[in-house]
Amino acid sequence: MPTFTFLEANRWQDYELLDSGDGLKLERFGKYTFARPESQAMWSRALPQSVWDNAHGVFIPTGEESGGHWQLKKRVDEQWEMNYPLPTQSNLRFNVMTTPGRHLGVFPEVAAHWDFMADSIQKAGTKPNVLNLFGYTGLASLAAAAAGASVTHVDASKKSVSWARENQELSGLGDRPIRWIVEDALKYVQREAKRGVKYDGVILDPPKFGRGPKGEVWEVYKSLPNLLDEIRQCLSDHPLFVIVTVYAVRASAIHVAQAVDEMMRKYKGTLDSGELVTREKSKNRLLSQAVYARWSSK
Ligand SMILES: C[S@@+](CC[C@H](N)C(=O)[O-])C[C@H]1O[C@@H](n2cnc3c(N)ncnc32)[C@H](O)[C@@H]1O
Repeated sequence: MPTFTFLEANRWQDYELLDSGDGLKLERFGKYTFARPESQAMWSRALPQSVWDNAHGVFIPTGEESGGHWQLKKRVDEQWEMNYPLPTQSNLRFNVMTTPGRHLGVFPEVAAHWDFMADSIQKAGTKPNVLNLFGYTGLASLAAAAAGASVTHVDASKKSVSWARENQELSGLGDRPIRWIVEDALKYVQREAKRGVKYDGVILDPPKFGRGPKGEVWEVYKSLPNLLDEIRQCLSDHPLFVIVTVYAVRASAIHVAQAVDEMMRKYKGTLDSGELVTREKSKNRLLSQAVYARWSSK
């Protein structure tokens, strides 16, 4: 059985979960604070209503899964900069903005994986080949590149990839070897497997539902086993890590861990799994954001 961990990204300075409760969370992204829905916050808010009322923006959901709109109560720049201090001395610098899907261009809780990756890559002392699938705004790719990896970043959205490339420049990593690919994750890995391309580290953060650029359907429960199988065929003889994060509500860490355990059965290493959590400032409560499984050669 893998170990079970509550993994906390506790080195942020530009991000804070200020308070949570009553189905909402209040967060600070750099210079602005926002209230967003958080269905799992089934307790009461600890901070007074006046603090919540002072937020720069509130996301008002509609009935659909992630649909809705931002109601801005104060002036908010179209985009602004945030920083993350990587353990590799270099700072990640990136732009964030309010997007229609309620997100802002960073999932702060996954920073715990950036630290882990940066550390594994630096300790490896080689120049590992790292694959980042569903890469979004590129922060995991940049963390791996800053630590010395050669990175292939794959995302279905042209817009996300352009955003990621801007973040690369902003972080001063313009000279690092990152291949930016707009493609369906599964199709891309299938093609890499056929070409015999090998990776030493893989990180993936798939959504529950998604679409490739040609309308290819991604549905995590149906598509993940197939994708893991294809990734297995692309692993080098001595892989460093495989990190799978799943945000789908019904997913259990045990199930993700068992899938990764099966995928990595021929390699010697350790498997760790659990929940990505954020600690709230107001009352120190933990908010679980996603489940993960992380295989490592160490
Ligand atoms: C926002 S990130 C992951 C975040 C988080 N795990 C969640 O559930 O919202 C999801 C990324 O996957 C990309 N994506 C969705 N379907 C895809 C597919 N079939 N192939 C490649 N990328 C895809 C999206 O463009 C997006 O940038």
